[in-house]
Amino acid sequence: MRSPEYFRKEVDLCFVKNWILVGRVEEIPEAGSYITKDLPFGHASILIVNTKNGIKGFRNICRHRGNKIACAAAGQARAFTCTFHGWTYDCDGKLRGVPDEEAFLDLDKARLGLIPVHIDTWNGFIFVHLGNEIPAPLKEYLGDLYGFFNGFDFDKLNVTWSFKTEVEANWKICFDGFLEQYHFAFSHRTTVANTFLAPDNRFGRLGWHQWWDPHCVCSITGNPSPRRPPIGKVLGGPNVAGSLPPEPFVISKNMNPTQDDNWELDSVMLFPNFLIQAHPKSYNVWWFWPVSATKSVFEYRRYERAARNAGERFAQEYYLSLVRDTFLQDLFAFEHVQQSISSGAIDEFPLSLSEARVAYLHHQVNKRLAREHDPVIEGEGDVCSS
Ligand code: FES
Ligand SMILES: [Fe+2]
Repeated sequence: MRSPEYFRKEVDLCFVKNWILVGRVEEIPEAGSYITKDLPFGHASILIVNTKNGIKGFRNICRHRGNKIACAAAGQARAFTCTFHGWTYDCDGKLRGVPDEEAFLDLDKARLGLIPVHIDTWNGFIFVHLGNEIPAPLKEYLGDLYGFFNGFDFDKLNVTWSFKTEVEANWKICFDGFLEQYHFAFSHRTTVANTFLAPDNRFGRLGWHQWWDPHCVCSITGNPSPRRPPIGKVLGGPNVAGSLPPEPFVISKNMNPTQDDNWELDSVMLFPNFLIQAHPKSYNVWWFWPVSATKSVFEYRRYERAARNAGERFAQEYYLSLVRDTFLQDLFAFEHVQQSISSGAIDEFPLSLSEARVAYLHHQVNKRLAREHDPVIEGEGDVCSS
């Protein structure tokens, strides 16, 4: 996790040649709605457009001299006009207008449409594939995960909070920190430890889980008798997030498969860099974007229903301040881990059963890089030799 050469291979094999989740269909609600997404790896920028012919994805690149064709993060357009020299493309990516076209000799407009990228959706999540070859279908890539969330009301919830920042740590160090709860009793002693760690699971052991190559899922339980801070008592409920009154909301019948009374959420690691944590009335998502061997972008969104009164809004804001503090505790540790790895003084980590999902992520990366031998599989615990 400090080698630029390993990083370049990783980006190519795990990101460029993989389905990557980039957003949700609610972000482009009608024909002409679009979003752009700058993918920190490979300097790629993507334009995703809702067209009369379905959702389409393109490289966000003008075919004249390479300016971005759309600069806003989101918008509504009947056509896209490049701000450099005014070439215009329709929503299907066809080149429609070239100022002073006669000055170009033999300009073949049919050949100069926007460059398409492969695109597909799953439960309203939009995926792109940047590879040149036709990829395996998304359904095949998701495998056993494909039907897991059937029935979950993703489309009834809205983004209430989002957070994005650069972290001086490899993307896998950041993702690792969200694939285990072993650190909760210590890193999150002052924030969420008490919400999740029950007396019979004081160190965040891994509960029900499945390996759905290359993804994995697990259930996470909560503390049935959490200590409530004074503000939590005012807001009511076992914890602040739970203080919103119950209402009809459908979750998938596949979730909480062990029917645990203390179930809090199901957590899905969607390879390579996406995490979904789905609760009964909300869901949270994270992206861990690679930037370089020692730097990443951490992106988070929380989806829930809108508050209906000031009390609910206050409860949500309080919860979000708790989440923010929790993330700061995480990021603090991640940058220290990177510093230690970059120092070259250590090259292996011993992992516990509670950290099995960490090993699984690294195993999936290593597998793609087709190493001569796989240290994770062979039990050497070496997840940091890259
Ligand atoms: S770069 Fe877009 S019109 Fe010239
Ligand atoms: Fe954490």
